[in-house]
Formats: sequence, C-alpha cells, structure tokens
Amino acid sequence: MQHQQIIWLSGAGSGIGRGLAVALLRKGHRLALTGRREAPLEELRQEVEPGEEERVLVLPADVSIPSTLEIAYTRLKDTWGVPDMVIANAGTHQHTELDRLTFSESRAIIDVNLLGAIRMLTLPLQGMADRGSGTLVGVASLAGYRGLPAAAAYGASKAGLINFLESLRFDAEPRGIRVQIVNPGFVKTPLTDQNPFEMPMLISVEQAVAALMNGLEKGRDEIHFPTRFSRIMKLLRILPYPLYKRLIRKITQGGAR
Ligand SMILES: NC(=O)c1ccc[n+]([C@@H]2O[C@H](COP(=O)([O-])OP(=O)(O)OC[C@H]3O[C@@H](n4cnc5c(N)ncnc54)[C@H](OP(=O)(O)O)[C@@H]3O)[C@@H](O)[C@H]2O)c1
Repeated sequence: MQHQQIIWLSGAGSGIGRGLAVALLRKGHRLALTGRREAPLEELRQEVEPGEEERVLVLPADVSIPSTLEIAYTRLKDTWGVPDMVIANAGTHQHTELDRLTFSESRAIIDVNLLGAIRMLTLPLQGMADRGSGTLVGVASLAGYRGLPAAAAYGASKAGLINFLESLRFDAEPRGIRVQIVNPGFVKTPLTDQNPFEMPMLISVEQAVAALMNGLEKGRDEIHFPTRFSRIMKLLRILPYPLYKRLIRKITQGGAR
C-alpha cells in the first residue's frame, strides 16, 4: 500500500473496523468512515494529530439503504475524488437456531452483509476502472467456507460475498483493480460478544488488525486469520459431506447450540 491513500471504510465505529481505522490513520492515510451511528465515527478524529482532522471524513450511512450510501459516496467523490481503496466491513450477525429462523431475519442479515457490501463496492467501480487503479476489499468470514450450525443466513451472506469477490476479481484485475477478500475467524468484538457458545481460537481486535494490515500491505488475494484456525477450516472445506457433517456435529455438540 503506497503512502497517503484515500480509503473508504464501513463499519468503522466498532470492533475490527474501528481497530483498522486507527491503524490506517496512524499510517497517514485519508479515511472516509461509514456506519449508521455518527458519534463513534466522529470520535476517530481524535486519532489524528491536531490540525490533521481533515484526514477524516465522516459519512454516516446505512449500507442496507441505497440512497444513504449513494449520498455518502457522492460526498466522498466531491471532497477527495474516487478513492484508492474501499473496505466493505460493515456487518451484522445473529446466532439463529431453527425455531428463530425466519425469512425476514435472514433477509435483514443478507441485506447488510452481502447486498450492503455489493452496494458499497460497486459505487466506485466505474471510476476506478476509468482511472485504471484501485483496491476493493470485502470482509467476509471463515463461516462463508461451508455451512455451519445456527448460521444459515450469516453463512450464506458471507459465502455469497466470497463468491462475488472471487468472480469480480477476474473482471476487475485486467482493468487495474485489485480485489482482496478478508476471512476472519472469531474476533472479540461487540458482534461476537453475544455468541452463546465458547468460540475456538478467539483473538483480539489488535491481533486481527495486525493480520489485516499485513495482508493489505502485501496485496494478498485472501487475508485469513488466525492462521491455525483458518487452516483447519480450509481442510474442513474439502472433506466429503458425511465426514464433514459428523465432524462438525461432534465439534459443536450435536449442531444445535
Ligand atoms: N468478530 C468476528 O469474529 C468476525 C468473524 C468473521 C467476520 N467478521 C466480520 O467482520 C466485520 C466487522 O465485524 P465486527 O466483529 O467488528 O463487528 P461490530 O463491532 O459489530 O462492527 C460492525 C460494524 O458495522 C456497522 N454496521 C452494522 N450494520 C450496518 C448497516 N446496516 N449500515 C452501516 N453500518 C453498519 C456497525 O456500526 P453501526 O451500528 O453504527 O451501523 C459496526 O460498527 C463484519 O462484516 C463481520 O461479519 C467478524
């Protein structure tokens, strides 16, 4: 990552997004920050030296409401031009066992995690293609590799995002646009704090951000972490169904936590 990039980041108000925003600001980049709540985005101005506040542009928007995202992008473009990098990180999660699985809840998750990311990543696409440069980053999940218990809609949203980005990469790279996929394991954030089970190989936001920054700087196609966990998930991905089912049931104690 060259110095002083213009980066548009969603979900910057908490968790991984907040940690990433702080790390990117410390590297000297200019950041446009999006999320529904304005206050935690405004707080990030305190992370820059006095007098450098103009390196932070606060663009509140709900990624599930196209008009708010379009307004945010127009403000970004009018202020700084087409960004160098867009990181679609905003996301939501709901541990959903069978009795709570409904269409409307599933749609709400997919609307934010999959459609919200697609909305955000496609806004600067033409501008980047015309310029012949740019980086599009989507924060998916290791839960997008394969179906897991109590995660039907969340898993589908992340699997969809991984596939969207993998496909987009073939079309975008010849036009000078890099596409990077981020697949985290369990990271301690407000999103996972509500999980009613013990999370294997849970890492801190600081650890996640270190892995993310390293992967972004190296331009990796896929940034996955923690590697001990992601390697296991990669192995599980290629197992035949009967074995995969047995193993996951065993690990998750029957599959209905
Ligand atoms: N933590 C993990 O273990 C883990 C693992 C794999 C993948 N991930 C992914 O990593 C990303 C960040 O998650 P996190 O763990 O850091 O969770 P988090 O702390 O809950 O952060 C999610 C952020 O997304 C924003 N957001 C939620 N819905 C939004 C919407 N409709 N429009 C705009 N912004 C919205 C929230 O801000 P507002 O409420 O202000 O909008 C919040 O700042 C998510 O995509 C998540 O799926 C996390």
